[in-house]
Amino acid sequence: MAILEVRHLQKTFDHTQVLRDISFSMEKGSTLSLIGSSGSGKTTLLRCLNFLETPDEGQILVSGEVLFDASVPATRKEQEIRKKRLHFGLVFQSFNLFPQYTALENVMLARELLAREQPDYKQRKKQIREQIEAEGVQLLEQMGLRDRMGNYPHQLSGGQCQRVAIARALALKPDILCFDEPTSALDPELTGEVLKVIRELAERDTTMIIVTHEMAFARDVADTVIFMDDGRICEQGDPKEVFANPKEERTRQFLASHRT
Ligand SMILES: Nc1ncnc2c1ncn2[C@@H]1O[C@H](COP(=O)(O)OP(=O)(O)O)[C@@H](O)[C@H]1O
Ligand SMILES: [Mg+2]
Repeated sequence: MAILEVRHLQKTFDHTQVLRDISFSMEKGSTLSLIGSSGSGKTTLLRCLNFLETPDEGQILVSGEVLFDASVPATRKEQEIRKKRLHFGLVFQSFNLFPQYTALENVMLARELLAREQPDYKQRKKQIREQIEAEGVQLLEQMGLRDRMGNYPHQLSGGQCQRVAIARALALKPDILCFDEPTSALDPELTGEVLKVIRELAERDTTMIIVTHEMAFARDVADTVIFMDDGRICEQGDPKEVFANPKEERTRQFLASHRT
């Protein structure tokens, strides 16, 4: 069964259709590269998946469960929305770390807030927090930040901050981790560091959707590429095939202007 199934999503802003009949699905453990020119709707699609925007039409299913259906009145209960949101992790271009917290505290924070909702939190507080800390340490080690856990964001490079942000997203154990231009704010050296950890996540079969302008990376890391143009899926398929042999004129033009 597909881990993610998106059916006929539509989204309009101010009478402009920004997503037009978007349908695709993903298998567990696969990586999807989402590419396309600026304004083609990539961020809006990720924001719809993460319940930051509400589509006008369509459905979103995770592991067969309908998380969103435009034809059914949406829940307004904050707790239910948060639960749905937990299926997805989101890493933005700007890392948005809390400056007053260390790297490790930034990674642990969301988990701790979530744990407080557990009925047994009060009795097992110490044990739960130790567990969350152990997992946070492990994730930061995986991100190559063993020596940086106690550092504050201002003491870290942009690449290190972004790796903390990735660890923070993974700490919530999302089914699907989404990246929106994770390296666009970084210089080439730091970009390389961040792409390396994303590549390692792909090798560990983390399910990921990656919006990026790093074309060689988009081709090499992904199992599938979706090329978006003007709110539509213009072309999708095996990245090596699509890059070598684009069928649509718009894909061809885009790839020609973004040489790998
Ligand atoms: N909150 C919003 N209100 C109005 N228009 C928006 C909003 N967010 C995005 N748009 C418009 O939707 C289109 C797609 O934007 P976006 O999803 O950010 O594209 P991409 O990420 O591919 O660059 C753009 O024309 C943008 O101006
Ligand atoms: Mg965008």
